[in-house]
Amino acid sequence: MSNYRKVTEFKTVADFREYLAQENFLIPLVDSVPSDGSAALAQPIKAMGQTIGNRWAILPMEGWDCLPDGSPSEFTRRRWLNFATSGAKLIYGTEAAAVMHSGRSNPRQLMAVPGTTKALQNLCREMRQRHREKFADDEDLCIGLQLTHSGRFSHPNQDAILEPVTAYSHPLLDRKFGNSPADVVSDEELAEIISCFITAAKVAQEAGFDFVDFKHAHGYLGHEFLTAYDRPGPYGGSWENRTRFFREVAEGIRKACPGLKLSARLSIFDLMPFYKGEDEVGHPMPWGGNYPYAFGGDGSGLAMDPELQDTCAFVRLLQEYGVELICGTIGSPYYSVHAQRPAYYPVSDGYQMPEHPLFHVARHLAAVKRLREKCPGLLVVGSGYTCLQEYLPNAAEAALANDWTDFVGIGRMVLSYPDICADTLAGRPLQRQRICRTFGDCTNAPRNGMISGCFPLDDFYKRLPEAARLRECKRAAQGKPTKQE
Ligand SMILES: Cc1cc2nc3c(=O)[nH]c(=O)nc-3n(C[C@H](O)[C@H](O)[C@H](O)COP(=O)(O)O)c2cc1C
Ligand code: SF4
Repeated sequence: MSNYRKVTEFKTVADFREYLAQENFLIPLVDSVPSDGSAALAQPIKAMGQTIGNRWAILPMEGWDCLPDGSPSEFTRRRWLNFATSGAKLIYGTEAAAVMHSGRSNPRQLMAVPGTTKALQNLCREMRQRHREKFADDEDLCIGLQLTHSGRFSHPNQDAILEPVTAYSHPLLDRKFGNSPADVVSDEELAEIISCFITAAKVAQEAGFDFVDFKHAHGYLGHEFLTAYDRPGPYGGSWENRTRFFREVAEGIRKACPGLKLSARLSIFDLMPFYKGEDEVGHPMPWGGNYPYAFGGDGSGLAMDPELQDTCAFVRLLQEYGVELICGTIGSPYYSVHAQRPAYYPVSDGYQMPEHPLFHVARHLAAVKRLREKCPGLLVVGSGYTCLQEYLPNAAEAALANDWTDFVGIGRMVLSYPDICADTLAGRPLQRQRICRTFGDCTNAPRNGMISGCFPLDDFYKRLPEAARLRECKRAAQGKPTKQE
């Protein structure tokens, strides 16, 4: 564990606020969230062709626990029903659904293919019903399904061997993950992938989802195409070519699925790949000069472009295709996990945080704020709040009240404490024993071939045999360096 001061050390909002100010981490906090309906978190908003009942959003999270054919399992069902009964009115994507077998991030990833339509439809219907039973109304509940192809990080078959599909030969990622030019997807193969995205959107529409999210984040295929400068042919080089993959999928969905809303999860800016050094801390891979491969970056590979020129250009394109809501994120869980999931505890194949985790939380907030300022009319879901722990609701309310974001998305926190949304809105005290402490086991388990879940805090997962196996894997991983080149 890092030596950074922990959130639990601060006993009051005022103490925590003072510390944030002293460290220059710009994270606004309200003293408390009103529970009389006047909270910014409680306000409905018109989006995605409906009224969405409040500003809590559940971020998409895979569980590595679907059935071999890609349909949801009982584990998946339990998680999605927790999402549905959390009190959040926007379920932003539930989890990444692969559009084809070869694009699965793991052999147990959900798939949006004709064979899973019925199971998805049943679960989507059950989510609405359970939400209605708990909160009386589901008219203001909005549920999306995230569609992806895992690209460079595809592990579709048993034993989870990497079977990468890359947009282009990347000078650092190819070295880090052992990719070769043979992994670059051909234009012909891409045509099939595009057609699978369109079929997946039809599946989601038939299953009853309100929207599909086309993932352009975390180094997956859609995201990677945005920096395919070195790719020859119609999908690389110029801006027009690098966005052709998006345009062809979006155009296809528009034609095939009239009325279905589209959103995009977007890494607002990317970073260069990090590795664990001898000191166990994350370091950027060595690179001389301008680094063009971090979309939305300032050319250093380490920071956001303050003008967000490429990100805004992409948002304008999204808007041309009717996208009004996006979900902002940063970097990738595979090569810059510290930025993507700020945490006090490193994940088993990660490293100690190069900076204070709260610095990275502040960076998430700043990125969303900046994007909203630069793209009027765009609605954004913010991410990366979980590390704030007991002060998450205070920051969520402040970010909304100050117009820094339109929705506050929660990821890890909803795995350990789904009711945090409803408890906050009702003014109930937080259940401290359920607050996510960023232990990382929901990431460690799948990185070691197991299902994901909150093993430390959720009794359901604590009791599973995987909990003991996970402890063993973590012990074995201690001190091992990760791959630099
Ligand atoms: C177990 C796990 C699975 C995730 N799966 C997805 C996913 O399927 N799609 C996605 O866009 N992000 C995924 N993420 C990232 C989260 O949506 C979120 O961006 C991240 O956890 C940071 O938010 P937080 O600080 O609230 O956890 C995943 C995160 C975790 C911990
Ligand atoms: S395993 Fe539980 S406590 Fe740990 S990061 Fe995930 S949700 Fe949080």
